[in-house]
Amino acid sequence: VAVRVYAYVVSDGRVAVFSHADAPDAGLQIPGGGVEDGEDLAAAVRREVLEESGLDCEVVGDLGPSTRRGWFPGRGIVDTHRHYFHLRPTGAVRETWTWYERHASDGTGPHELRFRWLPFAEAATELDFGFGARLGRLDESVQRADAADREARRVVAEGYEQLAATYVTWSRASDLDNPRHAWIDRALAGRTVERALDLGCGTGELASAYLHERGCQVTAVDISTVSVARGAERYPDIEFIAADLTQLSLLGSFDLVTAFYSVIHIPRRQQPALFRDVARWLVPGGRFVVNLEPSGNSGAGCTEPWLDGVPMFWSAWSNDESHRLLERAGLRVLDEERQGAGDEQFLWLLCEKPL
Ligand SMILES: C[S@@+](CC[C@H](N)C(=O)[O-])C[C@H]1O[C@@H](n2cnc3c(N)ncnc32)[C@H](O)[C@@H]1O
Repeated sequence: VAVRVYAYVVSDGRVAVFSHADAPDAGLQIPGGGVEDGEDLAAAVRREVLEESGLDCEVVGDLGPSTRRGWFPGRGIVDTHRHYFHLRPTGAVRETWTWYERHASDGTGPHELRFRWLPFAEAATELDFGFGARLGRLDESVQRADAADREARRVVAEGYEQLAATYVTWSRASDLDNPRHAWIDRALAGRTVERALDLGCGTGELASAYLHERGCQVTAVDISTVSVARGAERYPDIEFIAADLTQLSLLGSFDLVTAFYSVIHIPRRQQPALFRDVARWLVPGGRFVVNLEPSGNSGAGCTEPWLDGVPMFWSAWSNDESHRLLERAGLRVLDEERQGAGDEQFLWLLCEKPL
């Protein structure tokens, strides 16, 4: 019995497909291949996609198995178990690309593979080898993942509408020497910083106000309208914007971007795109200070009762993954520190957009 895994890699509602440059008529396929001894299926599909397409992905959903019986020269009748997965790239993607697969699972190679993205409806009819048949399940999986992200955003936004003031009091009591200030000082050391952007600023009391005190012209963004209204009233010299960070379009560029205890509330699938936005908003040489949860504590995400029993959502990548995602977004990590213990641990990072 052979076990193979196949990947429907989805980006912007389209699926990654490829054909062989040296045999274009051999059929339109999706990446996949054999599972190695003792290898977990999700790890196998990620490895296969990386080897076959160069795309670094995370697994979003399991689209179920199938078994095929076939006759192969020299091997006779072989049952092949296929497992299908829905994946999503963790970095930016190109419209079309060529990838050289060094060793195909049948021992041949190298092969030149030509990749492109196909809308689901086209993929359903154009994919060969029966791969089109799972597009319905893929569509359901995409919708489930989108709905989960929307629900996470609702939990966070509604939570902070209720907790705007409570959070500030709680945070002041638990962080007696506000670590945000020390990290802002590190980022500013010896530099002239004119424009600063504070992402997920809350009421602005814990970090935006300090950026302003240090002479920056501050733009502060938060999804909680209650927090933003309180901040705007208290700090008329700071520009407050009520918006979702993952859907933010900003004009202008910044010398410093800060995000304290806010990226942890964004579904981790959306964090790579936010890091790319940050890199875009920064001037060359500009800096980004962020704290994340270390070690992917909460993984893809979890909702739990938090302050005053109000439900809250968190999610995280592992430290290594966070480093890689920041670097792939074009941000170099200059300094880092782990702080806290037990459930209350944070990974603080000072990054720079290279000149
Ligand atoms: C733990 S508080 C941190 C506030 C402040 N940065 C600090 O250092 O104390 C997290 C803040 O991030 C905001 N936030 C979470 N998800 C967001 C999103 N998708 N867009 C904008 N703000 C968001 C919340 O509304 C909340 O005010």
